[in-house]
Amino acid sequence: MGLGGKGDTMNNKSSKDNKHISIDPWGSSTIEDYNDLFTQFGISKFEHFLPNISHPHYLMRRGIIFGHRGYQSIIKAINSKSPFSVLSGFMPTGDPHIGHKMVFDEIVWHQKQGAKAYGLIADLEAHAARKLSWSEIDGHARNYVLALLASDFNLETGEIYRQSENRQVRDLAFELGIETNFSEMQSIYGFSGNTELSHIQSVLTQAADILYPQLDHPQPTVIPVGPDQDPHLRLTRDLASRLRLFSVTEAYASFEADPMELEYLETAFDKLSPTKTPLHCNDVADWIENENKPSEVLTTITNKLKEASKEEFYPRVRVINHRATSDLFKKLESRISENKQTYKQHLDVFDASHDEIDNIVREFEIEHGGYGFYPPLSLYHRFMSGLTGGKMSSSIPDSYISLFEDPESGYQKVKQSITGGRESAKLQRELGGEADKCPVYELYAYLLTQDDDSYAQRVYEECTNGTRLCGDCKEEAANLMREFLKDYQQKIKEVEPLLEKLNFNISNPEENS
Ligand code: TRP
Ligand code: SF4
Repeated sequence: MGLGGKGDTMNNKSSKDNKHISIDPWGSSTIEDYNDLFTQFGISKFEHFLPNISHPHYLMRRGIIFGHRGYQSIIKAINSKSPFSVLSGFMPTGDPHIGHKMVFDEIVWHQKQGAKAYGLIADLEAHAARKLSWSEIDGHARNYVLALLASDFNLETGEIYRQSENRQVRDLAFELGIETNFSEMQSIYGFSGNTELSHIQSVLTQAADILYPQLDHPQPTVIPVGPDQDPHLRLTRDLASRLRLFSVTEAYASFEADPMELEYLETAFDKLSPTKTPLHCNDVADWIENENKPSEVLTTITNKLKEASKEEFYPRVRVINHRATSDLFKKLESRISENKQTYKQHLDVFDASHDEIDNIVREFEIEHGGYGFYPPLSLYHRFMSGLTGGKMSSSIPDSYISLFEDPESGYQKVKQSITGGRESAKLQRELGGEADKCPVYELYAYLLTQDDDSYAQRVYEECTNGTRLCGDCKEEAANLMREFLKDYQQKIKEVEPLLEKLNFNISNPEENS
C-alpha cells in the first residue's frame, strides 16, 4: 500500500542547493522526499523491524511510522521484558487534532508493551517560541491532557507533566546548558546573533524532557515524533554521551572504528579466526581488500589495519575514561574482573560481551554520582496532509480536524477536502485515482480504518483501479469521521474526572470566564 509523502513541516530554507536540506523544528515548509532523511541525516528505515515485533501497530504495518534511530534497543527491551520508557511532548498552541492522535497512539502502544510512558505539555516552548499567553496555553494544555487520556493513556503506570511545573526538568535543562555552546546551536538550528535566548532555553528544556525518564533509572527511551524534531534528538543523543563518565565501545585492535567499519571487522574476524590464530591486522587488511569492491569505508579501515600491521587482531570491549578522575577510573578497573589490558585513559576487556561490560560500567557510574544515560532513541512518522492541500496546520482551520471539533463540522471538512481524483468520472474510471496523493486516502489509512488492514487496502485498490469515485469515497470517509469524533468526544467526557489525579493544576478556562 502506498502513502503520499507530503504535507509536513520540514524546512529547506537554508539550502545552498536543492540537494541539501536542513531540518528546522520551527519551520513551516514541506519536504518532498522522505528518502533524503535516510541518506542525509542517518535516520534508519523502520520496515526491517516488522518481523521482530509480535503485534506491530497498524501505523508500523502501513509504513506511516517509517524511520528510527536506535530502535533495536526497544525491540530488545520489549522482547526481553526489561525496563524501557516512551516519551513525547506537545506544544499547546492550539487544540490537538487528528494528526496528534497518531502520537498519542504511539505512546500508548509502547505503554501497553510494557514501557513507562510520559506525555508532556511543552508550555514553556509554546510561550517562548510561539508567544502564546499563559491563559491561552492553559486551555489548550487541558485539552491535550484530555485527548491523551481519551486515547487510553494509563495514568497508573504513566506520567503527564507540564514543562513549567517540572522542577527536575528545569534543573536538568540548566545542567545541559553547561555541556553545549552557541556554535553548536548555530550549526544545528541555524541560530544567529539576533535569535532570542528563549529559543535556546526551549531547546535545552526539550533535551531535558527527553532525558527525564532516565533520571532515576537509566533505561532505553524512545521518543516518537515527526522528523522535524530530529535535530533535538541528534543534540540530545550527543549530550547524553557527553555526560557519561565513561564510554563503552567495541574494538579489534588499538585503533578506534566507527559502527560501519566495525561491521567489516566483525565479518573478517568470523571468517578468518577459525583458520588462523593469532590473527594479525595486516592479514585482515589483505582479506578485506580481496573480498570487497573498493569504497571509502574500505580505504579508511584497511589503512588503519595496515598501520597496526603486526598487532594482534582480536575482539575486545573498550572502556574509555571520558570525564572521571584517574582514581575513579582505577576503581572501575578493579570492578571488572574479566581478562583485561589497561592503558592510561582506556581499558580493553577480552572475552566479554559489550552489554555485560556496559551494565557494569553504567552501574558503577550511577553509584558514583554519574547519570549513566543511554542515548535516547527515536521513531518517526509521516505527517498527515492538510485537507486543503499542503500541510495540516493549526493556522489553516480547514486543513485539519480538531479532536474537539463538532462532529458535523468534521463531516463537512472531509466532504470539502481535496482528493487525488481525476478531472472527470470517466477519466477516473480509465486511469484510477491517485490515492498516494490523496488526503482522504490518508484519513482512511492513518485513522479511519483503525486496525483493519484489509479495509485500508481495499480503498487503495478500488481507488487506483478506477472502481471507486471520489464523491462516494468522501461520503464514506466523512461518515466515519463523524462517528469517530462522536465516540472520541464521549471518551473525553468519561476521562475528565481523571484530571484530578494529575500532579499539577490544569484549569478549565470556560469555568473562569
Ligand atoms: N518541540 C515539540 C513540538 O514542537 C514539543 C516537545 C517538547 C517535545 N519537548 C519534547 C517532543 C520532548 C518530544 C520530546 O511539538
Ligand atoms: Fe481519494 Fe477516494 Fe478519490 Fe481515491 S477515490 S482519490 S482515495 S477521494
